[in-house]
Amino acid sequence: MTNSLKWEGQKLATWYFTVAVVLFGAQLLMGLIAAIQFVYPSFLFEIFDFSVARMVHINALVVWMVYAMVGAAYWMLPDETGIEVVGVGLAKLGFAVLTAAVTVVVLVYILIQYGDTTTEIMGLNVGIWFINEGREYIEAPRWADIGIAVVLVGFLLHVFLTAIKGTRTGIVTVLMADMIALVGLYLAGIWFTDNISMDQFWWWWVIHLWVEATWEVLVGVFAAYGLIKIIGAKRQIVEMWLWIEVAMLFGSGILGLGHHYFWIGTPEYWWEIGALFSSLEPLPLVAMFIHVTYDWGKQQGAAKERGEESTIANTPALTWFFANAFGNFLGAGVWGFFHTLPQVNIYTHGTQFTSAHGHLAFFGAYATILIGIFYLAVQGTNGITRMKMTFDSKMALFLLNFGMLAMGVTLTIAGYQQVLVERASMGATWDAFFIAQDTLWYTQAMAWRLVLGVVILAGFVYLVKDLLSIGKNPQNEK
Ligand code: HEM
Ligand code: HEM
Ligand SMILES: [Fe+2]
Repeated sequence: MTNSLKWEGQKLATWYFTVAVVLFGAQLLMGLIAAIQFVYPSFLFEIFDFSVARMVHINALVVWMVYAMVGAAYWMLPDETGIEVVGVGLAKLGFAVLTAAVTVVVLVYILIQYGDTTTEIMGLNVGIWFINEGREYIEAPRWADIGIAVVLVGFLLHVFLTAIKGTRTGIVTVLMADMIALVGLYLAGIWFTDNISMDQFWWWWVIHLWVEATWEVLVGVFAAYGLIKIIGAKRQIVEMWLWIEVAMLFGSGILGLGHHYFWIGTPEYWWEIGALFSSLEPLPLVAMFIHVTYDWGKQQGAAKERGEESTIANTPALTWFFANAFGNFLGAGVWGFFHTLPQVNIYTHGTQFTSAHGHLAFFGAYATILIGIFYLAVQGTNGITRMKMTFDSKMALFLLNFGMLAMGVTLTIAGYQQVLVERASMGATWDAFFIAQDTLWYTQAMAWRLVLGVVILAGFVYLVKDLLSIGKNPQNEK
């Protein structure tokens, strides 16, 4: 790749992006294994456990997204502040340490497979320290947890020192504040208490306050930065939006956390708090959607007035930003709102409905915008002024978005069946749990999910191919 990057911080960012894409691929393969096991339970029996495939699937998800976010921060920093990332040599060392640790953790997950009864250390604290912490989504063992925390604090210092030394735009200021929250919350997932209710109480801080507050603010930051880069949006306007979104996101997202406290043994006042504030959560997502479309409309209008054709510096990135605006609203806002009232959640809790929302939200709100940022990085790395869609870009866009949306629909149907049969008619008994999963609609949905998993994987292959080759596409203007 002809590398025309002038900042070391941006080179480092591309390393983070590369690992992120590899982990994204690993995530999909694990999801496929788990999906096959749903349909053919004997698949890889006693060789590779469903629990492990599922665990690696969702941990790889969180880790690739964190990698892509850290990378995006390093990508934006020199651009926004006008200076090199302070201490970039150390930042590279941090990357090496983190990546080595992640590799070891994943290999241990796959090779040792916690939960296998032949493992003698099972059930002892040794497991928590060296194999798996057992906290869904953030299962890294304690040694790695501490290492990750150290590298993340280091990352925070690089962000702060660079921002303080260089030009501090509104975008950078929000980034700084948000990174404190993002890194700080990770610590809440390291403490361990014997009381499972208390443990879950803190665990939700990491995952929920990440996805519904701090990560969403980051999406706002990326969208603001990206719109300036791609369509030349006015900084004052995008930054105004950003502040509104930050206020709204924190306003609803923090207490909205209550929707995870309905059934874990926390006091009942969480029902009201959770219901009220989490119902408000879709509002900022609507604002974000309007933000992107409004800026786009404004830019087009202005170009027309000048009698010019509107210019888009990076069409694939812009398309993924639109997918984000829509997907965030749909997956997190609409699918989240569906089951956020305790009166509804008592029926849907822990059914495939939850999984439908989980897939649509993580993909719609985060995968999309991060893919958009990957395209921005490819553009920057190749020194392109106008980057156009290729056939591969379109295939990736279509297969990934169609596959995920359709998967969300199949899982919703499966969840609906569980709600009707297991919960509403049969009263949520142990038997009902299995009977519902044997019904036609449920089993068919699981088969379709598998088929769609293959579609999604194909989309991913096109995406990788495109990211590796689009920089050399002759349509691009240098
Ligand atoms: C991008 C943002 C979001 C992401 C990535 C996300 C992701 C998830 C995931 C993965 C779960 C399952 C957690 C588990 O394993 O137990 C979940 C649960 C839930 N989410 Fe979201 N979510 C987002 C935003 C929202 C919003 C805005 C709402 C409400 C308006 C919402 C409502 C819920 C509810 C009620 C549950 C609990 C489901 C249950 O177990 O009964 N989510 N979310
Ligand atoms: C090849 C495509 C994929 C397949 C076949 C697949 C399959 C699966 C399976 C079988 C599970 C376990 C569900 C259960 O325990 O009932 C799962 C969970 C999950 N997957 Fe995927 N997945 C795929 C892609 C993705 C993508 C792209 C994302 C996010 C961007 C994602 C996010 C999640 C989440 C958050 C969960 C946990 C859901 C919950 O427990 O509520 N998956 N997936
Ligand atoms: Fe939540």
